[in-house]
Amino acid sequence: TKKKLIAGNWKMHGTLVSVRQLAEAVIDGVEKDASLLDRCDFLVCPTFIHIPAVRAVIDHNRGALRVGGQDCSPHETGAFTGDIAAPMLKDVGCSAVILGHSERRQHHAEGDQTVAAKAVQAHQAGLMTIICVGETEAQRVAGQEKTIVKQQLDGSIPAGATASNTVIAYEPVWAIGTGKTATPADVAAMHAFIRGILVGKMADGAGVRILYGGSVKPENAGELLAIPDVDGALIGGASLKADQYLAIAKAV
Ligand code: 13P
Repeated sequence: TKKKLIAGNWKMHGTLVSVRQLAEAVIDGVEKDASLLDRCDFLVCPTFIHIPAVRAVIDHNRGALRVGGQDCSPHETGAFTGDIAAPMLKDVGCSAVILGHSERRQHHAEGDQTVAAKAVQAHQAGLMTIICVGETEAQRVAGQEKTIVKQQLDGSIPAGATASNTVIAYEPVWAIGTGKTATPADVAAMHAFIRGILVGKMADGAGVRILYGGSVKPENAGELLAIPDVDGALIGGASLKADQYLAIAKAV
């Protein structure tokens, strides 16, 4: 079985002081329970501007924590004011990047083609991509969740994606930051569906990790992470508290 990936998406939160403290506390917690590292990989994704500070904490502690970005440009370099390129993330010590998060799809009108173009750049730069998919509440009510997720996977996963450079995160939009989680049966059904698509698409699709995201917290983590084809969690709110983030990993 695959090691679970416990990924924290810190979104637009934190200060220089608070992100350092959070990274320190996470590394402390992981080091206190060495068996955690046998079961889980740990990744945190701060804002771009906080990445070097988190990287410095990791280096200083020789900590087994990895750092990633929350987005990258679909271009390698050039006149793109305000954007951050994948090689820049690599250069400051990132090993991964979240792409196609529903908040970017929604607030920045990112479509599947853009997500795929970003993933190509990220893979070229040597970053692992966490490609996010998930239906809205209206789409689920209309019974379209599988159609939507298949469309997003088909459009967002680039040629060249493998189990070592690609992770999929299923995040039903209505479960993000709402305290609502999909039922274990719904999660099981969707993850099995995603697995089938990945196996059809990629030679090593069986090895791709599929994360669940959307109001994951210590109280529901054990149940969610025990579902077949749930290979980890993408955690928003609860990843901002070291004790909650660690408790989720301990539930594995
Ligand atoms: P919450 O865990 O706050 O619901 O956020 C989930 C998410 O969007 C992670 O990317």
